Amino acid sequence: MTHRPPDLGILVWPRPTPRLALRPVTLGDVDAILAYRSLPEVGEFTSRGPMNRAEVEARVELLRQGATAGAPQPRLGLVVEHDGAVVGDCSVRLEPDDNGMWRAGVGYAIGPGHQGCGYATEVVRELLVICFGHLHLALVEADVFVPHVASQRVLEKAGLRRVARTPAGSEGGGRPRLDDYVYAVTAAEWAAHHH
Ligand SMILES: CC(C)(COP(=O)(O)OP(=O)(O)OC[C@H]1O[C@@H](n2cnc3c(N)ncnc32)[C@H](O)[C@@H]1OP(=O)(O)O)[C@@H](O)C(=O)NCCC(=O)NCCS
Repeated sequence: MTHRPPDLGILVWPRPTPRLALRPVTLGDVDAILAYRSLPEVGEFTSRGPMNRAEVEARVELLRQGATAGAPQPRLGLVVEHDGAVVGDCSVRLEPDDNGMWRAGVGYAIGPGHQGCGYATEVVRELLVICFGHLHLALVEADVFVPHVASQRVLEKAGLRRVARTPAGSEGGGRPRLDDYVYAVTAAEWAAHHH
């Protein structure tokens, strides 16, 4: 039996981190997100590749719907703000596991002008606070293409560990087929470092 989905309505926005703020994405954020999500270097190691306006709009809509009460596929889609400007985005996809618990897959992107400052690490750390501290999920995981060392570093700094290597998926649309590393951290592992 699957437990009821976590109640995303308990979360209070915006959520400040030491240098950033996270808040739910809106259609008003499409231009700011498109500015970096459309760049080849930002799409290089994402499963979707560089995104056009229609793709960003569809993604924002999907994330917004996922945040509504009773959504069949619960999701959080957040923008990352620094000094009031959108510098990146992140998402949390919730799904039931085999034991009736809930787990999450996280994703993130930081615009090129703001990379290398530790922002992605700060974002992932806050997503873990949300997922474990507030939503009481059992596990958080992330998939990263094997050559994407910077993102693996982000996950390791945030406390996830590499648990598997999975063969290249079936990304269509001319995307490169690359093996994934699966990174994960359990609620117990996270709690051991935060209490
Ligand atoms: C990957 C990404 C999220 C990193 O964001 P960021 O804010 O620069 O990350 P941080 O500053 O928190 O940490 C980056 C780490 O990677 C390291 N790094 C950066 N480029 C690297 C490279 N080419 N090889 C090895 N390590 C690299 C940095 O040195 C840093 O580690 P350190 O603190 O030990 O020095 C960002 O580049 C991005 O958004 N890329 C495009 C979208 C994307 O790929 N998203 C993730 C998909 S899985």
